[in-house]
Amino acid sequence: GQAAKGEYDHFMMKEINEQPTALAQALEGRIDPDSGRIALSDFEPGTFEDVESVQFVACGTSYHAALYGSLTLKQAGVQSAALLANEYSVSAPPIDENTLVIAVTQSGETADTLNALRHAADQGAMTVTVTNVVGSTAAREADEALFIRAGPEIGVAATKTFSSQAVMLSLLGQRIAADQFGEVPSDLDSLLPDLESMPESIESILETTSARSIAERYEGSQSYFFIGRGLGFPVALEGALKFKEITYEHAEGFASGELKHGPLALVTPDTPVFAVFTGEEDEKTLKNAEEAQTRGAPVVAICPDGHRAVDVADAHLEIPETDADLAGLLANVQLQLVSYYAADLLDRPIDKPRNLAKSVTVE
Ligand code: G6P
Repeated sequence: GQAAKGEYDHFMMKEINEQPTALAQALEGRIDPDSGRIALSDFEPGTFEDVESVQFVACGTSYHAALYGSLTLKQAGVQSAALLANEYSVSAPPIDENTLVIAVTQSGETADTLNALRHAADQGAMTVTVTNVVGSTAAREADEALFIRAGPEIGVAATKTFSSQAVMLSLLGQRIAADQFGEVPSDLDSLLPDLESMPESIESILETTSARSIAERYEGSQSYFFIGRGLGFPVALEGALKFKEITYEHAEGFASGELKHGPLALVTPDTPVFAVFTGEEDEKTLKNAEEAQTRGAPVVAICPDGHRAVDVADAHLEIPETDADLAGLLANVQLQLVSYYAADLLDRPIDKPRNLAKSVTVE
């Protein structure tokens, strides 16, 4: 009801605004302030010491968080892949007792993800569920569970739970790498302070965003494209998914470098391109964005102020400076807001888009 939505018109906007709190809750007690290390006492010491490779299984927005988690694990030197749970039974790489399979599922009840989890367990893998719902089927069935503590999410389009999943997966990845290699990954020192200031960074985005005017400016476009590379790629996919889910407009996410291998044929002055800059090979992404701009497409750069892309782009959505591991998650908040305002301008039923369900319990 209206009461539960408080000052907001939609649960989605309420939940976008709950992200600083959700992330603070996710991190609470999981970083040791004295040593500046991840604690993750959710798991016994050495839980992951025999893990040789990791497979993430998930659907929808959770799959994008899984892609994000898988990339951070690879950067930490651990062999890892993110797989669509509904493709898993036909496409799973080999599994043995040294394989860790991580189910990422907000609800813990998605049939496709449960099937993948069961398949993995049957093959002898160790299993972990990363979920928002304590007592959910996936949490109960896996060997271990890690709770993201985002609080209930009512809007069908996942928002705060994506941010919390991605942050928890990056912590879990550090923990897996630490157990596997017997030492804490060296880049953790630079990551932790920025991780702890995530709630503050998101707060500043929520206070200063120009997402509404961007949505107005590009209302009525033919298609909306989202590009990113590295950790910006899952964010581009998620930006497009959110946009299509709630606006019913055509939106697609691409790896920046892939634009020239096909999608560029679709680019016209009527297809705005949202480019996510994370600090990883930004020069290349900027070049890809300029290729779209040359074909007349307006480019919206999502990056910190003072970034070179700001001068090149037609519009700018600002994010605070942060670690390259986290910049994409800040960009994602701006993209959530763009989708929300675009859907609101079209008067869509934002919290309950047609044909979609919060949790899909059929295959
Ligand atoms: C449904 C929802 C999506 C969600 C997906 C996976 O399709 O509409 O928003 O991402 O299920 O849900 P899960 O609960 O497993 O994260």
